[in-house]
Amino acid sequence: MSQADFQHVVRLVDVQKSYGNVRALSGVNFSVGCNEIVGLIGDNGAGKSTLIKIMTGVEKPTSGDLYIRDRQVNWRDYSVGKAHELRFETVYQEKSLGEKQPLWRNFFVGRQITNRLGFIDVRRQKAIANDILRNRIGFRSEGINADSPVSVLSGGERQGVAIGRAMHFDADLIVLDEPTVALAISEVRKVLDFVRGIKESGRACVYIEHNLAHVHELSDRLVVMDRGAIVAEIPRGQMTLNELTNFLIDLQHDKPTLSPATPPAADRRAGTAS
Ligand SMILES: Nc1ncnc2c1ncn2[C@@H]1O[C@H](COP(=O)(O)OP(=O)(O)O)[C@@H](O)[C@H]1O
Ligand SMILES: [Mg+2]
Repeated sequence: MSQADFQHVVRLVDVQKSYGNVRALSGVNFSVGCNEIVGLIGDNGAGKSTLIKIMTGVEKPTSGDLYIRDRQVNWRDYSVGKAHELRFETVYQEKSLGEKQPLWRNFFVGRQITNRLGFIDVRRQKAIANDILRNRIGFRSEGINADSPVSVLSGGERQGVAIGRAMHFDADLIVLDEPTVALAISEVRKVLDFVRGIKESGRACVYIEHNLAHVHELSDRLVVMDRGAIVAEIPRGQMTLNELTNFLIDLQHDKPTLSPATPPAADRRAGTAS
């Protein structure tokens, strides 16, 4: 990848998002630097998925601004397709691949390679899929190739395929929403290795992960969300895993029983962010 001529791959400024009277996000400022791995953590319902859905064009915010590679983008012009065009790729925790389809088809869903006559170029797609499997994500299993159905892959391998596909399409930013949540421990390691591969290849990543040890190990910066707001940003090395765990437990103890519409209190935020 060439030297980046921008500071942030993506930046969200003062984003609010309400679903009816449920306030999912309030006053969120979030950015991702070049080649930065940002770990996004927080309890269920904190707003993590909502934030990345807005960032990747799945949802529109109620208000707020979006900058991509330091240029403002109008929400009206922003969509999942536009995010792909701008080289943002998202890997969801499940259902990102079609079970019965061969692997090569999964690589090219929604963006077929066609030949001069407009027909789908199957041979080329298979060749590329095999190249991604062998070289990009290092699949060694003898039995697996571009023609294998997705159903023969383990959970970790599936996530690897999804990540490999994102890398193939030259994503600058790869967003992973809890990629290990349904996986066996041995499989989780593979996914962590894929995330390391994202970093090594010069890309940026937003990594939502419930396992603190993993996200602590891999992230350049941790962003902590609580009840729709960002309550802390922790650069790599600033907290040990133990300190991080205690910090999050304290955050929970601070939790009042709240109705969904309660806006996060600014003073509480200031208190926990220090
Ligand atoms: N489509 C939706 N309709 C109504 N409420 C939603 C919707 N999506 C998310 N929410 C609410 O927004 C809040 C944040 O959810 P979410 O972003 O999924 O949290 P997280 O990913 O951190 O668990 C929750 O209170 C959730 O119930
Ligand atoms: Mg979520």
